[in-house]
Amino acid sequence: MKNISVIGAGTMGNGIAHVMALHGFHVHLIDNNEAALQKAMQNIEKNLDRQIQKNIINVDQKEKALANIQCFKEIAMGVTASDLIIEAVSEIESIKREIFRMADQYAAPNCIIASNTSSISISQLAEATKRPEKVIGMHFMNPVPVMKLVEIIEGKHGSRETTDTIVKLTQTIGKTPCVVKDAPGFISNRILMPMINEAILALQEGISDEKTIDDIMKLGMAHPMGPLQLADYIGLDVCHNILSILEEGFQNAKYHPVQMLTEKVAAGKLGIKTGEGFYKY
Ligand SMILES: NC(=O)c1ccc[n+]([C@@H]2O[C@H](COP(=O)([O-])OP(=O)(O)OC[C@H]3O[C@@H](n4cnc5c(N)ncnc54)[C@H](O)[C@@H]3O)[C@@H](O)[C@H]2O)c1
Repeated sequence: MKNISVIGAGTMGNGIAHVMALHGFHVHLIDNNEAALQKAMQNIEKNLDRQIQKNIINVDQKEKALANIQCFKEIAMGVTASDLIIEAVSEIESIKREIFRMADQYAAPNCIIASNTSSISISQLAEATKRPEKVIGMHFMNPVPVMKLVEIIEGKHGSRETTDTIVKLTQTIGKTPCVVKDAPGFISNRILMPMINEAILALQEGISDEKTIDDIMKLGMAHPMGPLQLADYIGLDVCHNILSILEEGFQNAKYHPVQMLTEKVAAGKLGIKTGEGFYKY
């Protein structure tokens, strides 16, 4: 595997491109928004500089990584020579299905198509292609250059060969692959989101305040960040959306987003990205 296309140059896409380029892959970074591509390249350079400052890489590695990345606006142009395509566009199923359809149309027959989705069914995305056995989930964590986990999701049509190839690639880039079956929220969000929802319910019921709830989980459970602070980092709209997908997918009201979360989202208090969520930034 030499050539990797990353579709979507946002938060996750630029992190994935960064890590792949640093490990010697030729990366085609694709986004239909020119400004997003420019911002992605600036972010990648800034994050490579940060790694130099921390003595993780040297200047030569930075230059090589940057030279390994080429930007494209068109999927048709960006995927033709790829061995692997990683889709990291916005979490909207109709957009992802269309990207999968196009990637399938323009990529070589042996190319694997992966999605970085947090919650959308890999089996359903696979059905938008004529190569469902070569479709897989590669769920990277944010920030990608720092976090070790890649949750690998096997859709119901996926082949063992595809999983083995992606597990090996994940190890090559210094990450730890954890393979799971396709189910709503996979494993990471199925466990994380109900915890966040419960923390918000405890706050809503006045059992304690934000800082105390977070301190209990940090100091008592050795979590690096409390659930309310983590929700602010993830984005309260994203948490709300994933909980709704869990509720619908499992047909179980225990995943229903609690009232305070719904109210914060309606008020535009989405966490760090809007300057206020459970905390002010
Ligand atoms: N942000 C996180 O913490 C996180 C963590 C794990 C997984 N994810 C998943 O990663 C994916 C991307 O999330 P993000 O936070 O990077 O989003 P983002 O909004 O930062 O970036 C999405 C990018 O996709 C581009 N895009 C949208 N439609 C497109 C199209 N039709 N063609 C080409 N480009 C298009 C946008 O221009 C944007 O640059 C989502 O599926 C999300 O669920 C996000």
